Amino acid sequence: MKEKLMVLFGGRSSEHEISCKSAVTVISSADPERYELVLVGITKEGRWLLAEDLRAIEDGSWRDSKKSFMLSADTSVHGGYVLEDGKISEYVYIDVIFPVLHGLYGEDGTVQGLFELSGIPYAGSGVFASAAAMDKVYTKVIVDTLGIRQADYAAVHRTELKHIEEVDERIEAKLSYPMFVKPSCAGSSVGVSKAENRKELEKALYNAAIHDSKILVEETIVGREIECAILGGEEVEASGTGEIIAAADFYDYDAKYNNSESVTDTHPALPEGVEEEIRTDAVRIFKALGCYGLARVDFFLDKRGVVFNEINTLPGFTGISMYPMLWEDRGVDKKRLVQILIDLSKEHREH
Ligand SMILES: Nc1ncnc2c1ncn2[C@@H]1O[C@H](COP(=O)(O)OP(=O)(O)O)[C@@H](O)[C@H]1O
Ligand SMILES: [Mg+2]
Repeated sequence: MKEKLMVLFGGRSSEHEISCKSAVTVISSADPERYELVLVGITKEGRWLLAEDLRAIEDGSWRDSKKSFMLSADTSVHGGYVLEDGKISEYVYIDVIFPVLHGLYGEDGTVQGLFELSGIPYAGSGVFASAAAMDKVYTKVIVDTLGIRQADYAAVHRTELKHIEEVDERIEAKLSYPMFVKPSCAGSSVGVSKAENRKELEKALYNAAIHDSKILVEETIVGREIECAILGGEEVEASGTGEIIAAADFYDYDAKYNNSESVTDTHPALPEGVEEEIRTDAVRIFKALGCYGLARVDFFLDKRGVVFNEINTLPGFTGISMYPMLWEDRGVDKKRLVQILIDLSKEHREH
């Protein structure tokens, strides 16, 4: 008998559209001989809808689905219910869940909490690692303990912006312009801006505060952007490295997803020892945060060397995404990759 694989996509975050594209890759890579798919899309408003098939995800028509899906937190249910006109029309047992959600409410531990309650195995990191890795300020604090270099930073809380001059002064005493300002929890460069002076800093802080109450301000690292993919459970493996060559001043949302001039290179020429250092650091960071299954760990390489930037516990799986490309390069095609992640999920329990 085929196993029921629930693929969850879309979501309430700013990365909703990317998640839908990532889901298409994951769904197309799941072995049809082994899995019967239950496709559940979460709208931007947070409704859970049952998608008919892959086509409905590709053309977006799943958003008009008349069937909604309710995942049960009750372990004896081990699945959920399809609702039509508000009435239960079907019970669906689920063997395993693959959340292909990026950003808030998907990559941040919230939905993982529901999976934990349900008792259904799920791909990827658990509650704590997801939450910690989503939060750039907390990630910084944890990575500081490893002695791995990161951009110098200052953390600001939204409530502090009432006394903006004090904030300006505190930041300027620590960092010099240009600075990068980011919401602590966000993704896909949403709310990220570069500030060249105090006026821009204030604008950037207010802008970041729209997306999160915690804001991270960093020194600017002038260098290359190198990424590394991690795969595994108890034993983890690091891929080779890939380079992002952004078509814009920095790798903003547009450069990431709309600008075909942005290039990803899975064989970047790097100075001696740099690839090994990145691979080792990536594994140490993955483990320190308690990640599981998969993550993409992002670094800069500047004149002084390797600098950690951020970690993504549910990295993009779109046709142009680095994570699956890096594994493909190591002989692990997307079909195998998805299979490994599903297999790993069954060995994993948070508690
Ligand atoms: N400290 C920094 N110095 C230079 N560029 C940065 C810095 N922080 C971020 N960037 C640029 O902004 C992009 C988005 O920032 P990042 O921290 O990766 O956030 P996100 O989670 O939105 O991807 C990076 O890919 C990089 O191009
Ligand atoms: Mg990034």
